[in-house]
Amino acid sequence: MKPVVVRTAAEVRAHLERVRSRGSSVAVVPTMGALHAGHQALVRRARELCDEALLTIFVNPTQFGPNEDFEKYPRPLEADLARAEEAGATLVFLPQKSEMYAPGDQTRVSVGRLAEGLCGASRPGHFVGVATIVTKFFALFAPATFLFGQKDYQQLKVLERVARDLLLPVRIVPHPIVREADGLALSSRNVYLSAAERQAGLGISAALAAASRAYASGERQSAALVARASEVLRDHALSVEYVELRHADTLESFESAVGAEPCVLLIAARSGTTRLIDNAILGQDRLPGVA
Ligand code: PAJ
Repeated sequence: MKPVVVRTAAEVRAHLERVRSRGSSVAVVPTMGALHAGHQALVRRARELCDEALLTIFVNPTQFGPNEDFEKYPRPLEADLARAEEAGATLVFLPQKSEMYAPGDQTRVSVGRLAEGLCGASRPGHFVGVATIVTKFFALFAPATFLFGQKDYQQLKVLERVARDLLLPVRIVPHPIVREADGLALSSRNVYLSAAERQAGLGISAALAAASRAYASGERQSAALVARASEVLRDHALSVEYVELRHADTLESFESAVGAEPCVLLIAARSGTTRLIDNAILGQDRLPGVA
């Protein structure tokens, strides 16, 4: 069935009222569009968890830096609507900028330490933009279940923090990373990659796989695990922004050795001019070539 397409917050509220009067539950999947099988997996999971899967598509200007790809970010609306329908979305919210940022808008949501390192260091202001837009979605749709991908691991942790700190009545459900068969994590930005750049980009998942294998064979020194990933990255034409091992819940660094707590290895690197991010929870996440 074709999803209902709405463009205003008032229409969303009217839809939610109808849904709730039937006693149905809703799960929300916020996206910036250019939908791929990763986004679709979130929508399918949303339908398993709740009666309705509501998809938002909004290329949020406040999370892009001045020299980033806001203008050229892909916006294939017709293909997105077809993919939304295929995955089982029941409603697609396509707001204009003025709907999400009312004239005179001056409110921002800023998270502390969690948003500071990693992507927060290389993209100043990025998580303020993300936290602000998603807080607006939380406020509009709550009470609701929200799905976020582990592909954007720091984003997921920041948004879990926002929901808890602001006492918002939302349940956040993380979704595992969806990859191509060769390991490349699906991303809307992959369309920017030439064949050679895509090949180089495979170095990122290969680096995560190498560290995961080292972890599986008992390596627990954080420097050694990072070094193993860095070696693989060096063999590929990538410009590495960070390779860091962090506590999977708090995103704090490890002093020297990893203990019993879950740890996540996070990587950001450019292939050509395209910025790619990926991560793996060592000993837990499945990657090609890791048993
Ligand atoms: P976007 O990059 O479109 O991603 C939307 C959601 O899909 C996010 O939760 C992201 O983690 C998830 N996702 C993307 N690629 C994935 C993959 N390969 N596997 C699993 N999940 C994947 O993230 C954003 O948009 C924006 O920052 C947003 C949260 C919508 C705020 O503007």
